[in-house]
Amino acid sequence: METIQFSVLASWEKELITAAKQATQTSYAPYSQFNVGAAVLLSDGTILTASNQENRAYSACVCAERVALLYATANYANTPLTAIAVAASQHQQFTAQPVTPCGECRQVLVEMQERFNTPIQVLMYGEQSCYIARNAQELLPAAF
Ligand code: THU
Repeated sequence: METIQFSVLASWEKELITAAKQATQTSYAPYSQFNVGAAVLLSDGTILTASNQENRAYSACVCAERVALLYATANYANTPLTAIAVAASQHQQFTAQPVTPCGECRQVLVEMQERFNTPIQVLMYGEQSCYIARNAQELLPAAF
């Protein structure tokens, strides 16, 4: 995984992160107040966005990344995913440090890579710096 400034990213990477930042607006996070947005890029150029959706039964809360990833494969079952961007805001401020996917989301990412035999780049946004993982295994070595 690499630390990188937003300003030096490729234009398609900036566009995907911008979509993830916008998607934080649709987050439903009354319990954590942590508004997360995710944007998935498909191999045909389609961008799909999603956000975290919480529930008063806390174990039913779903991360933005998984809402986006599962929406993608549920609606575009034969189209590989090539990248995902994630951003988070708290009290209308984007986090200074990059937001990183939880372990469950990493596991889902790994299986989607295998399913389509295509690496999924993961872009994690922070106001001060970003992280880039070139594929899901970088985030989850020795995955189940
Ligand atoms: N969350 C995400 O949506 N993605 C992450 O990468 C980290 C955590 C959500 C889950 C929960 O709704 C809230 O953020 C606080 O953990």
